[in-house]
Amino acid sequence: MINAAIVGLGRWGQNLVNSIQGKSDKIRIAAGVTRSVEKAGDYAKRQDFPLQQLYGKILVNPRIDAVVLATPHSQHAAQIIAAAKAGKHVFTEKPFALTQRDAEVCLQACAASQVTLAVGFNWRFQPALQEIKRMLDDGRLGKLLHIEGNFCGPSAYRYTAGHWRQSREEGPAGGMTGRGVHVVDAMLYLSGHVDTVFAQSCRRVHDYGIDDTTSMLFRFRNGATGYLGTLVATAETWRMQVFGARGWVEVGAIEHLTTWTMRLCYVNQPLQTLSFPHVSTERAELENFADAIKARRPLAVAGGDEVHGVAVLEAILKSAKKNATVKIN
Ligand SMILES: NC(=O)c1ccc[n+]([C@@H]2O[C@H](COP(=O)([O-])OP(=O)(O)OC[C@H]3O[C@@H](n4cnc5c(N)ncnc54)[C@H](OP(=O)(O)O)[C@@H]3O)[C@@H](O)[C@H]2O)c1
Repeated sequence: MINAAIVGLGRWGQNLVNSIQGKSDKIRIAAGVTRSVEKAGDYAKRQDFPLQQLYGKILVNPRIDAVVLATPHSQHAAQIIAAAKAGKHVFTEKPFALTQRDAEVCLQACAASQVTLAVGFNWRFQPALQEIKRMLDDGRLGKLLHIEGNFCGPSAYRYTAGHWRQSREEGPAGGMTGRGVHVVDAMLYLSGHVDTVFAQSCRRVHDYGIDDTTSMLFRFRNGATGYLGTLVATAETWRMQVFGARGWVEVGAIEHLTTWTMRLCYVNQPLQTLSFPHVSTERAELENFADAIKARRPLAVAGGDEVHGVAVLEAILKSAKKNATVKIN
């Protein structure tokens, strides 16, 4: 059993705890850290772990094997480096870092201390996405031609002007850091690394806060194309459609990246609907992290999708600022 400390007990931190506490025989939350302990005190009591305000204290606690970071985006890199230096394994929520340089420094710190670093892309544990990957790998969809996606919702209305979610430092390129990075990660999983990106990002609703309308065109290194939109001033929705030379598949819904069905259509064939078992993708990603720790296996590594995803995010921001196509090295 891996004893982890949850760091950040807001909406998503509690969701991660709920997915494993009393349910997993691989990983449990043995301590918690949060900025305002009074807000999460009752929750921590119910989930049976002590709560404190100081991250540094958790890092010197020998009974804690790992930290699970569910804090604002700009804090992840420094928290990863501190945990690695203290010899703690790290599971961080997305985005892993806000610049490629920071992501690389985090990877170096984790490699130097031989700790496992995982990034919370829970959608990789979604059965439908895993089936799309198999369909591409075994040729059922034919050559991958194009992927399109969106991930939208009313975040611009949900958070007040001073909230961290409205800060342009925490949310560069609008909904990309909070939402779009999930779809980019799914694209990397299916198509490999991105060669070039062209992005537009603007604010059309409020006179404060993050951009509410962001869209991108991608060219992947394998020659496939893609596009993605993320809007944070509209109703909740998400969708991804993957086009191969033999047909297409499509997933999407209203609920947060959750789907148990997938539409499939082969060339000159009728439309089919496939169904998948319900799973907790949060529990699956945390147990995968625990398995990797036990096996002393790294997850995020230099040159991997996690750091490339951060490079894509940085390139999107650069492209939107310059109004030009940006090549990713
Ligand atoms: N994988 C997914 O699908 C998914 C979904 C949602 C969110 N997330 C990720 O989870 C992370 C946390 O998001 P969330 O929605 O849970 O955020 P949240 O509800 O605002 O919670 C943030 C947590 O961090 C603490 N915190 C520390 N310093 C803070 C500061 N300067 N400003 C604000 N809060 C601070 C908060 O403390 P107090 O409130 O106690 O003061 C709270 O415990 C983000 O990385 C986000 O992208 C992932």
